[in-house]
Amino acid sequence: MISQPYVIVLGNEKGGTGKSTVAVHIIASLLHAGHNVGSIDVDARQGTLTRYLENRDKYIKDNKVKLLTPSHNPVYLSENKSVDEANKEEESSFSEAMEKLKGCDYVVVDTPGGNTYLSRFAHSFADTLITPLNDSFIDLDLLAHIENGTLNVNRLSIYAENVWEFKKNKALRNRGNMNWIVLRNRLSQLNAKNKEYMEEVLGKLEKRIGFKHVPGFSERVIFRELFMQGLTLLDLTEVGEKKLNLSHVAARQELRTLITALGLSKVNQRVKDAV
Ligand SMILES: Nc1ncnc2c1ncn2[C@@H]1O[C@H](COP(=O)(O)OP(=O)(O)OP(=O)(O)O)[C@@H](O)[C@H]1O
Ligand SMILES: [Mg+2]
Repeated sequence: MISQPYVIVLGNEKGGTGKSTVAVHIIASLLHAGHNVGSIDVDARQGTLTRYLENRDKYIKDNKVKLLTPSHNPVYLSENKSVDEANKEEESSFSEAMEKLKGCDYVVVDTPGGNTYLSRFAHSFADTLITPLNDSFIDLDLLAHIENGTLNVNRLSIYAENVWEFKKNKALRNRGNMNWIVLRNRLSQLNAKNKEYMEEVLGKLEKRIGFKHVPGFSERVIFRELFMQGLTLLDLTEVGEKKLNLSHVAARQELRTLITALGLSKVNQRVKDAV
């Protein structure tokens, strides 16, 4: 019997928080650990993950190097004018992509910054949902409305409410649980006060709405540079970058810490060892 893949969804209704960047680095970590990895881009219109992986294929071809790649499937929004029909078509397209990847150990799903039916449907497959946030109260507002001065939580915001729905829909489908991880991305190395506030509020929210928060990546130029070649931090030595600079080494350490914090239930040790 083939066991079902473990599904990791990157989601946050707000755009530009690092979903695609984190997705590609999780994919690379799992591949380097020897896993069979599938990926799905439900943000196929913008297609960052799809373009990232196309750039990677081109880099492999042009440079005749061997790099690991996932089995990738973009899933497009339906153009059907009837909302009901469009929803059904999107459900089937996503389910078809999942079916193609059923032999994989892990499936990593990248979703758009925005609230589409397809994205909500994809979220409800998550064994682990990862929500990257930039370290700012503007991003935090997506999870909860915070009172100025006291930093008390006034009420939950729409995305946090939606996560309850995703969890419910998942439980209805296969009685499964969903781990929710909030990941702080683009951490500034300078703004200590803001970091402290974020830590305090996330600590309060964590208990109230049931997620675990983990530090992700610092703000680093390397993340913006890798896209054009479709590379990740893990490929740098393989493509002949003999001397990693301090920032690259620190970024890889952050990736290692992140993978450990994700606590991916299956074979986590192998994943950690590979990073
Ligand atoms: N840790 C980081 N340091 C520096 N730049 C980063 C970091 N993480 C992401 N970026 C950059 O921020 C931008 C947005 O990142 P990304 O595309 O991964 O976000 P996203 O959440 O997928 O966006 P969208 O909602 O539009 O799909 C990109 O230019 C990316 O290179
Ligand atoms: Mg994206």
